[in-house]
Amino acid sequence: MNIPDIIIAIDGYSSTGKSSFAKIIANEFSFLYLDSGALYRGVTLFAIENGFINDNCEIDVPGLDKALEDIDLHFGEGGAYIGDRCIEAEIRSMAVADKVSPIATVPEVRNFVDRKLREFGAKKRVVMDGRDIGTTVFPNAELKIFMTADPLVRARRRADEMAAKGDSTELDTVLKNLQERDYIDSHREASPLSQAEDAIVLDNSYMTMDDQLQWLKNIISEKFGK
Ligand code: DC
Repeated sequence: MNIPDIIIAIDGYSSTGKSSFAKIIANEFSFLYLDSGALYRGVTLFAIENGFINDNCEIDVPGLDKALEDIDLHFGEGGAYIGDRCIEAEIRSMAVADKVSPIATVPEVRNFVDRKLREFGAKKRVVMDGRDIGTTVFPNAELKIFMTADPLVRARRRADEMAAKGDSTELDTVLKNLQERDYIDSHREASPLSQAEDAIVLDNSYMTMDDQLQWLKNIISEKFGK
């Protein structure tokens, strides 16, 4: 299936399978995949390691903002990097998951990430996933999808994913972290998670990846006539 040079924006709650879906789409249509959450997670790891956020999630905003001027955060082979250090494993840890939502409320951080994403997305043929791609980062994206799923289904998926990586955090803890993040992400002042008016909702609680890809292909056929 051929599709035109467009931007596909995928937003939605945590652990709805946005990144898995985005990767499948990128592979299917030879699009570039950009994981905006990885940039927020990368900034969070950087903030933890450099003392810009403490255990009570108090953030040294001016310090962090200044330090971001020099951070070389980018995507490379196997995921996100700071300089030549691959940080893909660390940014998926619970330590980062616990602090990423507070970090993502900081407008200076959001501006930093938005700038990077717009740079990366300038060439089109990208699929990007996050919380505010269709509303703030690329409000003119030609195709916007808003993903949702039952919270318990989502917690189970995330717990399984973590277990596969040797992290045996209990389902209850994962569910709690997910619900806390949903709340902070939807209630923050700067670009809260919300559905763009022209986004198409995908509830994938009981859908396989094949079901989702077929669903998308139908939409693309309807929208772009191919
Ligand atoms: O998609 P994820 O779970 O890796 O995202 C991690 C956090 O980053 C999430 O709790 C909210 C934040 N985020 C955001 O605020 N805006 C985005 N576009 C992407 C992620």
